Amino acid sequence: MSQKEQIIIFDTTLRDGEQSPGASMNIEEKVRIAHQLERLNVDVMEAGFPIASDGDFEAVKKIAQTIKGPQIAGLSRANNMDIDRAWEALQFAGERGRIHTFIATSDIHMEHKLKMSEQQVLDTAVAAVQRAAGYTPNVEFSAEDAARTRLPFLAQVIEAAIEAGASTVNIPDTVGYTIPSEYFDIISYLKANVSNIDKAIISVHCHNDLGLSVANSLAAVQAGARQVECTINGIGERAGNCSLEEVVMALRTRHDILPFTHNVKTEQITPSSKLLTTITGIQVQQNKAIVGANAFAHEAGIHQHGMLMNKDTYEIMTPESVGLNASKLVLGKHSGRHAFIDRLKELGYDLNKEEIQKAFVRFKSLADMKKEIFDEDLDAIVADEVLRVTETYKLLQMNVSSGSFASPTATVEMEVEGEVKKTAVMGDGPVDATFKAIKELTGATYPLLNFSVGAITGGTDAQGETSVRLKTEEREVLGQGAHPDIIVASAKAYINALNKIASFAQRMQGDI
Ligand code: KIV
Ligand code: ZN
Repeated sequence: MSQKEQIIIFDTTLRDGEQSPGASMNIEEKVRIAHQLERLNVDVMEAGFPIASDGDFEAVKKIAQTIKGPQIAGLSRANNMDIDRAWEALQFAGERGRIHTFIATSDIHMEHKLKMSEQQVLDTAVAAVQRAAGYTPNVEFSAEDAARTRLPFLAQVIEAAIEAGASTVNIPDTVGYTIPSEYFDIISYLKANVSNIDKAIISVHCHNDLGLSVANSLAAVQAGARQVECTINGIGERAGNCSLEEVVMALRTRHDILPFTHNVKTEQITPSSKLLTTITGIQVQQNKAIVGANAFAHEAGIHQHGMLMNKDTYEIMTPESVGLNASKLVLGKHSGRHAFIDRLKELGYDLNKEEIQKAFVRFKSLADMKKEIFDEDLDAIVADEVLRVTETYKLLQMNVSSGSFASPTATVEMEVEGEVKKTAVMGDGPVDATFKAIKELTGATYPLLNFSVGAITGGTDAQGETSVRLKTEEREVLGQGAHPDIIVASAKAYINALNKIASFAQRMQGDI
């Protein structure tokens, strides 16, 4: 199969995905995702938008310095400052560094947002690509809102960008407006009307506002696109971006009519999805294709019967092919360190010695409270002990009394910026009393937007998993916590949200 039939998978979880409401990540979290994307073997990962903030710059730089396999892209608008800043961060990736520069080309964007004429946009695009090409031959140009751009003008801009040195030209459906047949025609038009199109890879970048991002991307591939831009779990602005796992599994499953290759190690899909969920707290809907909890569950009796006779009756891909292990090894009190470490590895966690030790101590204490430890418990342990942000605030111990005749009272002891503090507070319920105590100890006044409780596994000894969403002036922050006692889990979630807020504040001051 020729090089032309290879589909380049460009992951933008860390850039466009991070623009999802509530998905902001700190540098450490981004680097962790980047390592997982490396294991997933994406061809290109877009690590961020370096000029957007110092935090973004540092994250792109760190990823460019540490990730070895995939190419590392950084976004820039079409101006010198953005492009120079992008390369300052990307240079550490050497030949694998890619500058991704963009400008809008649709009438509506040019008139109302850019207030520029077609000629000005064309000249700006060319100047930007030339500037970027001065740093690296690995330049991607995007015509923002391409799917709503007049085709002759789109062709003119793309031709000029290639002439100026773009090696990849991206045709985004920025607002998720197009449909497969139309997008197929747009790509076909460019192939027929851009004289130098063979000198560049055509890329597609679809948003999911009409739920068509994957279908549109596949239609574009059939028309000749050879790079697909996508995100894990389809996270992204508004309704999200094209989902990586769906597009890759469609290519794999329907190879008969989509005869293309890709480099993604599909067995790493589930670990990637889980890690992202753990870090961002953005849950995947149960019936989401490929990575939803029900994606491989066969409920109806008639389906189960068919499956027993022959799996192919109702299963078009195996759970194992996406890294979902059928057997959920259960650990318990007597499981040793080796079994624990092996299982973490199988679940896709690559932890250092210190992290393993922290997680193992927590595992042993959980095993004392709970007979069986499932994979989901291990995910929660790793999330709690390893993945969550550095702790400005730490829960040391707590006790809550509640019942039907006395007012609930929470006694909470915490370490607040290095100082041990303790208080006892009454509330309308045990959670209310706990949150009031934490607020008193930390001085936090952020409005609480949402509080939810769930069980990680079945059974009355299951760990409770809680989420707390707080509002600061700049953003909404989601905290998560897990513990067999749901009040303790709630306290942990609240404190986790406060730690995230503290970590963002430190980042803004350039402390990290
Ligand atoms: O949706 C979009 O147009 C983008 C571009 C910056 C590629 O994200
Ligand atoms: Zn986008």
